[in-house]
Amino acid sequence: MIRGGVAIGGVAVLLGAFAAGAFWLFAPFGNRETAFDPSQFRSPTGPVPPSEQRPGDIDAGRHALLNAPYVSCGIPYNAYRRLNPETAENKPLSGREGRNAELPYALTSHVNEDGVEVISNNCLTCHAGRLNDEIIIGLGNEFGDFTRDPSRLVLQTGNYVRGAAETKAWEHWADRIDSIAPYVQTKTIGVNPATNLTWALMSRLDPETLKWSETPLIDPPPRDPLPISVPPWWGMSKKNAMFYTTIGRGDHARFMLLASMLCIDGTEDVADIVAYAPDIRAFIASLAAPAFPYPVDVELAADGEGIFLRECSACHGTYGANETFPNRVYPVSEIGTDPAYATEATDGSRDRFYAWVARSPYGDTESANPAPGYIAPPLDGIWATAPYLHNGSVPNMEALLRSDLRPKYWRHLFDPRNYDPQRMGWRFEVLSAGQESEKDPERRRLIYDTTLRGYGNQGHTYSDKLSAEERSALLEYLKTL
Ligand code: HEC
Ligand code: HEC
Repeated sequence: MIRGGVAIGGVAVLLGAFAAGAFWLFAPFGNRETAFDPSQFRSPTGPVPPSEQRPGDIDAGRHALLNAPYVSCGIPYNAYRRLNPETAENKPLSGREGRNAELPYALTSHVNEDGVEVISNNCLTCHAGRLNDEIIIGLGNEFGDFTRDPSRLVLQTGNYVRGAAETKAWEHWADRIDSIAPYVQTKTIGVNPATNLTWALMSRLDPETLKWSETPLIDPPPRDPLPISVPPWWGMSKKNAMFYTTIGRGDHARFMLLASMLCIDGTEDVADIVAYAPDIRAFIASLAAPAFPYPVDVELAADGEGIFLRECSACHGTYGANETFPNRVYPVSEIGTDPAYATEATDGSRDRFYAWVARSPYGDTESANPAPGYIAPPLDGIWATAPYLHNGSVPNMEALLRSDLRPKYWRHLFDPRNYDPQRMGWRFEVLSAGQESEKDPERRRLIYDTTLRGYGNQGHTYSDKLSAEERSALLEYLKTL
């Protein structure tokens, strides 16, 4: 208890430093940066060229994804158990070994160099979800809550840490979480802040040595993360670049492991991970979309296919026997969806992070080159990935296909039993007012308010002109992808 208290004192000091250090948010760090030409960090809109990927072993990749400590810091297991005496996964994922078999699927255990068993969040925190009681690896988690200050969790767990070795392990993790906390709090439950999280970590890591710095080496990102809806992993079997803006060019295996940056302190820490990264990539690229588990009107769907080929295929490709995928990015001005994410990626305000990638060991085989637009994603398994668009602003397919049905203010019901097969999406509640008029923070964080910056639900109106019959045929066809 006493040691836990001491450790908390340490964090209080850290948090204090944050408040006092507000000046550095605006201070230039030009001396740390080498000159670069912004145009080297852009991709044009239009077709995305393929890049060669290192081959990997699919089974070894699944095993590593579910068991390996690619996120190498976390909460001491003992503290976790004191805090959560009861939790055990009631239906564990196959292939989870040892301690992992009894932990929730988003947590992985390993023993650190001081002999302390530590548990960390793994990729499935954001890249798995439940559908009809089954855990689907690769489904974006649309139920995650990133609205809260993660420093609270740091303080809470600190109370349960005992002894010097546990305290040291906990402090490593606590320092990192405290340093990213100001940059990862979204306004709504369900959307994801991962991009800002990555930039925040880069601001603290020396790109060449990958050594952690107590103070930022380049300006951190702005505090308000733009909302992202996590894309499903099975799209990677078709996509030539990663992420909505196609920023992830080159070697996908390296980009995928940016999540391990949370804990690294030196290039040797990434060497092991780099060795099995191609296996994880191979596993991800081997995933197929889950089939729609409810009845489909086959005749209606056949009518819908014709409409899809006429209205949608040029951008989204063809499905079934003759699969094609155009791999094209469309300018924000043409698609008309919320522009903030693509605009901020390409207006120069993030170039220091692309330069970081170029200077780091990651930059040997990959580069960060966003296009000023969004890729038209593969629509395989699109039934399972609501809410729609890159910011998750449209709750179901019915509303995606008819823009006047899109709710301005709505509330996700956050219950995996609430899938609506008719409208293709999660059941939701329409609200009459936005976040500003809700004073209770617990209720406010549940509101998806499309008037907030980056949360807009406009654009992509390609099926508005269709008749009601055509739209229902199209929706039926989309169930079959
Ligand atoms: C905190 C949440 C979070 C964690 C943890 C996370 N990701 Fe992601 N991931 C995202 C988000 C959000 C995106 C979409 C970002 C975008 O498109 O701009 C994404 C995108 C991806 C993509 C590209 C998908 C596509 O269609 O472009 C891959 C592949 C991926 N992540 C792999 C991983 C792997 C492997 C791990 C673990 C080492 C991981 N991610 C950990 C949130 C996360
Ligand atoms: C001019 C190209 C273009 C056309 C035509 C087009 N789309 Fe799209 N579509 C896009 C782009 C780009 C996005 C990504 C926009 C974003 O996320 O902000 C998108 C997103 C989507 C999404 C959301 C995907 C997700 O994972 O959230 C669906 C569903 C979709 N389109 C279906 C259709 C259908 C059905 C049609 C035909 C009626 C169609 N699209 C026509 C370019 C197009």
